[in-house]
Amino acid sequence: MKSYCVLNAVRLLAFSTLTLAVVSVPAVAQSGANHKTPWMNTSLSPDERAAMVVKEMTLDEKISLLHGTGMVGLSPMSPLAIYSNGGAGYVVGIPRLGIPAIQMSDAAYGVRSSGENGRYSTALPSNLGAAASWDPDAAFAYGALIGRELRDQGYNMSLGGGVNLAREPRNGRTFEYMGEDPILAGLMVASLIRGTQSQHVIGDIKHYAMNDQESGRNAVNVNIDKRSMRESDLLAFEIGVHEANPGAVMCSYNRVNGNYACENNYLLTDVLKKDWHFKGFVVSDWQGTHSTIKASAAGLDHEEPGEIFFGSAMKEAVQSGRVPMTELDEHVRRILRSMFACGVVDDPPQRGVVDIPGDLEIARKVAEQSIVLLKNEQNQLPLGGSHGVSSIAVIGAHADIGMISGGGSAQVDPPGGNAILPPGKGQTKWGEPVWFPTSPLRAIRAKAPGTKVQFDAGNDPAAAAALAKSADVAIVFASRWESEGMDLESLSLPKHQDQLIAAVAAANPHTIVVLETGGPVTMPWADQASAIVEAWYAGSQGAEALANIIFGEANPSAKLAITFPKSDADLPHHEIVKPPRESTTNGEPDAWKKIAAGLPAFQTTYDEGLKVGYKWYDAENKQVLFPFGYGLSYSTYSYADLRVKPGEAPASKVRLSFTVTNTSNRAGSEIAEVYAALPAAAAEPPKRLVGWSKVKLNPAESKDVVVEVDPLYLSIFNVDRNAWQLLPGDYKFMVGGSSQSLPLTQSVGLK
Ligand code: BGC
Repeated sequence: MKSYCVLNAVRLLAFSTLTLAVVSVPAVAQSGANHKTPWMNTSLSPDERAAMVVKEMTLDEKISLLHGTGMVGLSPMSPLAIYSNGGAGYVVGIPRLGIPAIQMSDAAYGVRSSGENGRYSTALPSNLGAAASWDPDAAFAYGALIGRELRDQGYNMSLGGGVNLAREPRNGRTFEYMGEDPILAGLMVASLIRGTQSQHVIGDIKHYAMNDQESGRNAVNVNIDKRSMRESDLLAFEIGVHEANPGAVMCSYNRVNGNYACENNYLLTDVLKKDWHFKGFVVSDWQGTHSTIKASAAGLDHEEPGEIFFGSAMKEAVQSGRVPMTELDEHVRRILRSMFACGVVDDPPQRGVVDIPGDLEIARKVAEQSIVLLKNEQNQLPLGGSHGVSSIAVIGAHADIGMISGGGSAQVDPPGGNAILPPGKGQTKWGEPVWFPTSPLRAIRAKAPGTKVQFDAGNDPAAAAALAKSADVAIVFASRWESEGMDLESLSLPKHQDQLIAAVAAANPHTIVVLETGGPVTMPWADQASAIVEAWYAGSQGAEALANIIFGEANPSAKLAITFPKSDADLPHHEIVKPPRESTTNGEPDAWKKIAAGLPAFQTTYDEGLKVGYKWYDAENKQVLFPFGYGLSYSTYSYADLRVKPGEAPASKVRLSFTVTNTSNRAGSEIAEVYAALPAAAAEPPKRLVGWSKVKLNPAESKDVVVEVDPLYLSIFNVDRNAWQLLPGDYKFMVGGSSQSLPLTQSVGLK
């Protein structure tokens, strides 16, 4: 696996050869136009400005924008990499034209690689957790925090914005994405990207497309019909692109219907650039480029991390006419356009000190809105107040020290290094589960000063059960590490944690289970636990947020953005298709050369088609453990008075109004969800989410809620017409608090 530590070493090495290299030093953007740089006139449009710059550029300058400067293990290094800011990608600038370098960093739930660069980054809750807030404002704040911290660290481009639909929940990167519904995922990622771009950082949406498993990701060929693709995974991207105008789209490693995503004409040109009018540039995932002429013609604009295909090979292809100059100019224009549109030319990042207290506060608030209360028998939670307890047993998952985080290129470094290692261990390592120093034990003790709070590591279920038995309440923590580069064999908890929970719950009828997982978990012990809390990878302030939920200082409002099935056997595919030996490069020297050349394909077929997530369980009549859209609160809510009004003009929005009442004596926020069943002729799964509203309600308060449904969300994709189509017929609208609790229904005819 690639390593940024090695990158640092190479930077030093390259430095010694610098005297021999011709170097273009990264530019500081000029402000204001003069007769030599008229494109610096900020009253011109990004398109006009980009077009003016392209006209001035030499062939070498154009080529220099089309690729990165290398990464050890993935491509040869350029000597210019010494000017990298230490992130995943660095593209040299063109000082004579006032065009700054592009400094890219991974930034899924926070800025990556801060440890090895001697910096600090805040970890937000993992993306799937944050999607459970169903709160576009929280997603915007999330993205804006990332944008600010990127700038403080000297970056001007984010590689966040993961939105692959959770078609296969065992995918090791499920935690980096926004769940299983394309409309929720698309709208949430759009808010996140808008937040990031509001800070004058180029935003990114990834991994386009169908990168739904990590096993054999450089070789796998995904077979799926066009309609299913457009209505599921691609719809999330379509909404994200349309609503946020990200500066970049990252194409994925895998093949789709025969062609690598990064040289897939259908995905990159027909859909992304023509149908969706995407204005930015397409960047390949790190070594996802496999050709020069084919990839360029298909619509790939930029190769990362090196210049195997889009460096001198591209120059030769242009000079020999095999890649037309107009095509090259189009790639360059798109990159420059995003730089102007996102503000990185006019407002380059100023390094600064991260606002740590301010950002921790945001991380805590987002976590409080992300933690899902799955079960709460006899109002076991919140603790405190009339539920005062005199002793609490805290058990398992290093809860005395910290909370786990998601791995891979999303990994954010905890301050002080991995909390479960001796202090001073510094950087995180690829493949190593990392705990943040946010201690649930400490946070619980702080909330319950007069209470005896004891800890057991949970290594011996009998000892843990004995401690649990002696306490009024047991809180047992369970964790599961997930990461890029791996898939889960099963959704069950690893390392005998099921046995631990069962033993503790058998010993104490007041057992609260807290899950620290990236995605859904099977729970053979679910009936035994009195409360279950899904905390996800809760980020830098996870323990404080969790303690606020457990003690009722924050009222849970989050709802699952992904179904929790009863067992692995209920998933559409019993197993993830694994790569045969020739499709992997495990441990091979020069593996990058084989990957670049293209590994032999192996096949996976997504024949569940449209039936992703809850649509699968609905259509197949399978009972689930916890449904999509589900989550409890300490408040209760009721729904009444649904009215559905079709729009007057064709293709106008359908307007729903209804009343939500807080039937409890505690203020809270309810996520009111709207689903639709399409006319039978549409041949769709039983229902789909078409809108929602998060409503804040005081005790006993009622509010009239209006949800306007975009006709796109009611449409099917007609492959013959290559267009979305709203079929005439009866549409049944359903409203309520989860995909399986929809008390209000009304059918209307739409033309
Ligand atoms: C990941 C991308 C990431 C890139 C750069 C790849 O391995 O798939 O998500 O942005 O590396 O680190």
